[in-house]
Amino acid sequence: MHFLSLGDFSHKELRDLLDHASELKARPTAGGDALRGKTLALVFLKHSTRTRVSFEAGMHQLGGNAIYLSEDTSQLGRGETIADTVKTLSRYVDGIAARVFGHEQIEEIAQHAGVPVINGLTDFNHPCQILADLMTIEEHLGSLRGCRLAFYGAADNNIVNSFLHACPLFGVQLTVCSPPGQALNPVALAAARKAGENNAWEPRLTHDPAEAAADADVLYTDVWFSMHETPSEEGLAAYRPYQVNEALMARAPASALFMHCMPVHRGEEATDGVADSAQSVIFDEAENRLHAQKAVLLSLMG
Ligand code: CP
Ligand code: NVA
Repeated sequence: MHFLSLGDFSHKELRDLLDHASELKARPTAGGDALRGKTLALVFLKHSTRTRVSFEAGMHQLGGNAIYLSEDTSQLGRGETIADTVKTLSRYVDGIAARVFGHEQIEEIAQHAGVPVINGLTDFNHPCQILADLMTIEEHLGSLRGCRLAFYGAADNNIVNSFLHACPLFGVQLTVCSPPGQALNPVALAAARKAGENNAWEPRLTHDPAEAAADADVLYTDVWFSMHETPSEEGLAAYRPYQVNEALMARAPASALFMHCMPVHRGEEATDGVADSAQSVIFDEAENRLHAQKAVLLSLMG
């Protein structure tokens, strides 16, 4: 059993993870030392602050431990294959969390691993983040069903794709507000359409930021370009009208939340005034990574 994509799970399975995460947050000792003697390897080919530290802290809190490997500090950087690395690691550890580039790399890891594999972000999706985000929305709004979430930024992005997997299951209405010429990821969109009740769920794609904000319960944004991408000046310029700033928040209901998976490129996709406002729940999202991932770790390795 792996945790590679929210699209692999039913509503009930994700509901159970969210409920367990909330219980672990309310009672930090609830997990006991269920993972005593167990080790998680973190194989990260990209930078990370939240994912790495929340997994390491989570393992520690559950009585286990974690070992971090980057390309720089392992033989991956000297050309050893992912398959050989993963087969080797599986002889030592009880789980692998990996952050890689293409989604096919995490699938390759899962194929060769003898232990559960957790997706810590690929170019295609970021399931741990969206699990924590669902938890955060529910905490603040009381319920996910009927929630109107407006995402600002790239239409085909790992955050949007994981929302496409989860929103139909939880009855969240998703509006993606992107520069003209962009389209949703066809694979994630097809999965979303299939997952919704009676195949009736449909996201909305718009180019008008104010229109997307008008009835939004949540305004969510992310970096305009994924880490390790080098944007051109022209590329950045296309996104500037989609910045979540004080003027855009003023077009939304006063109760609307501001969300961002972080890291924030302050002054690009969001202003300081919004990121640091009373409506911003970005640090709750970051905290909930820990609780949500502890629930995932316990379900896979407990
Ligand atoms: N949101 C998130 O995954 O953060 P990191 O890149 O710091 O892990
Ligand atoms: N879309 C962002 C998410 C970072 C957590 C990226 O891929 O860099």
